[in-house]
Amino acid sequence: MVSHNNSKPEVTTMSPLQAKPAIIAHRGACGYLPEHTLQGVELAHQQGAHFIEQDVVLTGDGIPIVLHDITLELTTNVAVLFPERQQHDGKFYCHDFTLKEIQSMTAHERTDSEGRRVFPSRHAGPYDGFKVPTLAEELSLIDSLNAKGNHQAGVYIELKQPEHHERLGADLFKAVYDVLERFDRLNDPQSTVIQCFDPETLKRFKSDERFSSTLIQLICEGMPADLRGDFDRMQTAQGIGEIRQYADGIGPHIPLLFDKNGGPSKMVTAAKNLGLFLHPFTLRADSASLDGVNFTELHKKLFVDLQVDGAFTDFSDKTRDLIRQLEI
Ligand code: G3P
Ligand code: CA
Repeated sequence: MVSHNNSKPEVTTMSPLQAKPAIIAHRGACGYLPEHTLQGVELAHQQGAHFIEQDVVLTGDGIPIVLHDITLELTTNVAVLFPERQQHDGKFYCHDFTLKEIQSMTAHERTDSEGRRVFPSRHAGPYDGFKVPTLAEELSLIDSLNAKGNHQAGVYIELKQPEHHERLGADLFKAVYDVLERFDRLNDPQSTVIQCFDPETLKRFKSDERFSSTLIQLICEGMPADLRGDFDRMQTAQGIGEIRQYADGIGPHIPLLFDKNGGPSKMVTAAKNLGLFLHPFTLRADSASLDGVNFTELHKKLFVDLQVDGAFTDFSDKTRDLIRQLEI
């Protein structure tokens, strides 16, 4: 039984980006329902999230789908339906499947390579009816939920591994750009955010004269060497100054927010000095994002001590309630 508090969010007139702090529903409502499913989107909207996140990759026939990985085996039953399509590394790559084949699959709670749920207390099934949505299907659902009028949620779209797509001869930027244009979200800075680890992808949006929605540079430690970003430099004042030339904010991994004394890191101080949005990831009630700091304490650290502008959370309802309780 999924227990979550579903009290209706108060009707607000401010835009999602004006919310202080903004609650960014990480991968939908993945603390309760399988990540990146339309059922999770609906729940996150009901829980009052200011933004709902989409991670985006391309199918073999070039369709943007909402999926975190470039492979399918950890979040779908692809291995059952298409065992012969496994690659030598044991994985099932999205680009080896058409949209039609991917939408014949059932999506499920994230597992590790042994098939064990990464978060053991999360959704244990059954998974009938959970699917991998296209980006267009998810934006269409969010638009229809917003049209009901009692809560407006923005979209927060991450282009996943553009470098990988380029090596395949696929243009993830163009495919996402076309969907944004179709949904009139190219010039929608208050409710449409584009996020990416790749600076070059963000610079492509920045240099496009028709695009003026919000851009966020993601920053994390220990990233694969074949990615284009210099994530160590991005944590320096110089690096933040360079980011400011093409982005409106940063989305740092939570541990990067603090220096060794527990105070704000140089990256945080530099971002604030330059007026960049600070949207760290990820708040989880069932897993420590910062060693030795519990979920409530972490909300205080982020929203009271550091005064970040918003944060990604797996539990939008719990973050919403803590913001109220802590009178943030
Ligand atoms: O996009 C912000 C955060 O989600 C980045 O990490 O791995 O959850 O996409 P990941
Ligand atoms: Ca993401």
